[in-house]
Amino acid sequence: MDKFLITGGTPLHGTVAISGAKNSALPAMAASLLTADQITLHNVPMVRDIVTMGKLLAYMGASVSTRDFPASEYAFQAHTISDAVAPYELVKTMRASILTLGPTLARTGIARVSLPGGCAIGARPIDLHLTALEKMGAEIVTSHGYIEARTPTSGRLHGARIAFEKITVTGTENILMAAALADGETILENAAREPEVTDLVELLRKMGAKVTGDETSTLCIQGVEALHGAEHTVIPDRIEAGTFLIAGAITNGDVTVTHCEPRHLTALLNKLREAGVSVEPVGDGPGPRALRVRGVRKLLAADMTTEEYPGFATDMQAQYMALATQAEGSSSITETIFENRYLHASEMIRMGAHISIDGRTAVVRGPAELSGTTVQASDLRASAGLVLAALVASGETTIERVYHIDRGYERIVEKLSGLGANMSRVHAPAI
Ligand code: EPZ
Repeated sequence: MDKFLITGGTPLHGTVAISGAKNSALPAMAASLLTADQITLHNVPMVRDIVTMGKLLAYMGASVSTRDFPASEYAFQAHTISDAVAPYELVKTMRASILTLGPTLARTGIARVSLPGGCAIGARPIDLHLTALEKMGAEIVTSHGYIEARTPTSGRLHGARIAFEKITVTGTENILMAAALADGETILENAAREPEVTDLVELLRKMGAKVTGDETSTLCIQGVEALHGAEHTVIPDRIEAGTFLIAGAITNGDVTVTHCEPRHLTALLNKLREAGVSVEPVGDGPGPRALRVRGVRKLLAADMTTEEYPGFATDMQAQYMALATQAEGSSSITETIFENRYLHASEMIRMGAHISIDGRTAVVRGPAELSGTTVQASDLRASAGLVLAALVASGETTIERVYHIDRGYERIVEKLSGLGANMSRVHAPAI
């Protein structure tokens, strides 16, 4: 397994371009199952989860092609779906495979998706996806580790009024896609408002879907007979952008993050300013696409609670915890989305951080002098938090199991090294 070696202590300087959002590209790829026509996507990040989703679509009979390398533009075409199955081998490596359930069922009348099972950060059930599809007429059984879903004998799903008990991002996306090809109107209440959901709505509209209410918590979808091909550019990755902003702040550097969407980063920017960090938009006009972060001598503690969008993203919690270890005072961090998302904390403690955890709240006392050691990455965003901690630790940190970070950060070693970080990847010996 590959490792990262990071020697901390260098303030980062320069400019870094943000890639497309993994969590937007994945549902957009799944949406290609809704039509026999071609879907062309631009700004797709070159990360492991995208490769996995590409394999899954190919397994189901879609053609997946790309022109350039490293790839950022892809064409997907599911003329027919020859195998409406998402097998365990792929689902176990990427839970977002569940995003194929809604579109496959709506298009072919049948779908078989392996149950994803638990995950390091929480149990992550998919009951809300299934209950919603049942309301739309799907007959669902789970057996031998697979969800088997069929449309009713009429052949198509029907519209329904669905109120999610809890806000779910991929649940909202799955039902949006299913409803786009259902008979009649679907109203989705308590829907996720994440920018990635809005991006999917935009793609679906380009494909001929009739959706209103995006950016609100009630989505209204009028099902149509068929959808057609479309071309779409994936939004910038707000979590990658946030990670680089914290990298600039934590190292007391001066970093300009380009190709980002500051509107999607409001909660993080407010929190960074509360912590004393200077972050300013760069460029004129109504929609500046770059942010400049400058470190300060003294970071200040600031409490933070994760929430659904537009609140502070759970996917930025580990990175924020790294920053909090360097802030003066006591920062209380509360994780409300996932029940076990503090696996990075024990590794940060091994590096010298002062963190105590009580249930869903972690109290971080800073500033702590971190020192490099060997730490284990446990999930994608935890890995990013450890990279940030390593950038300020004295001496060398070895981060093991970095396959987690490869799932969602495009060329992170190259991008951080380009800003002056002393960081390298050690490749696992070929067996
Ligand atoms: C999406 O996961 C993201 N993944 C996650 O990003 C992100 O952390 C999460 O949303 C929250 O923002 C993708 O977009 C591919 P949820 P998702 O359904 O959709 C509970 C990353 O690092 N729940 O919104 O799976 C669930 O257990 C990843 O890029 C149910 O109880 O998350 C959780 O507590 C990690 N039943 C809460 O809802 C359900 O049927 C929110 O989960 C579904 C969810």
